[in-house]
Amino acid sequence: MACQDLEERLFGGELIRLVKSPQTAELVQQAWKVVRHEFGEMPLKLSPDEFRGALTQARSKIQAAPFPRLVESVLEAAGLCLKGLRLDSLRLRAVTPGLEHVEAAAPVFYCHRDTWYGNPSCQINGWIPLHAVDGRNSFRFFTDYFERPINNDSHLFSAAKFAGEGGFGRVPGQVESIYPRALDEPRGEYQDICCEKGELLLFAAAHLHQTLPNTTESARFSLDFRFYRDKNLRSGRGAPDPDNRSSGLLTDGYRPL
Ligand SMILES: [Fe+2]
Repeated sequence: MACQDLEERLFGGELIRLVKSPQTAELVQQAWKVVRHEFGEMPLKLSPDEFRGALTQARSKIQAAPFPRLVESVLEAAGLCLKGLRLDSLRLRAVTPGLEHVEAAAPVFYCHRDTWYGNPSCQINGWIPLHAVDGRNSFRFFTDYFERPINNDSHLFSAAKFAGEGGFGRVPGQVESIYPRALDEPRGEYQDICCEKGELLLFAAAHLHQTLPNTTESARFSLDFRFYRDKNLRSGRGAPDPDNRSSGLLTDGYRPL
């Protein structure tokens, strides 16, 4: 019952921030080992090519053991029942200061809903920063648009075509693809995420959100994972998702728990 309550709150638009648990602490510690190994102690001293290479290596390591098991323990500690869930691979994100000026990285900063990218409206995202973040290096939710549509170009997105081009695992800029975005400037209320290292933020994938430029002097590293409950997909239960015109779902890689 408790996990149904949690999902209900998320499908109602709540952004749920959970304090650091021993499980998230372990996940963050293991992720830092990978990051330090691939990026060294001073990631911003790497050339753009070296940084991209390190990110590719680190992303691949973070999809292998022990990370899938660690994510499951994080979900359980958050109060979610694992049975019946489908879980995507853990992803590592890096946003460097000034990345917003790199043309090839422009899609990183598009205002979007994940549902415009072939993710189901019953999908829940988990986001864990590897260090403290705030409005200078996190991301923004446009909370007034949870149930309200915004003009967008999601009709251009085909899940089958996107998967054939490398899916979400690619480093942006390697392949030309369609990346849907809001075509109007969102107005009204918004919330910039503040989190301590190792806290877990849960939110409905259908929320309108946008990565913020990193105005600090360090690279921002974070982890995220996506999951949904099979029976919710079948029954159509989920977040409102009021303006999604993309075609198909990109859920083939989600493994059943
Ligand atoms: Fe997103």
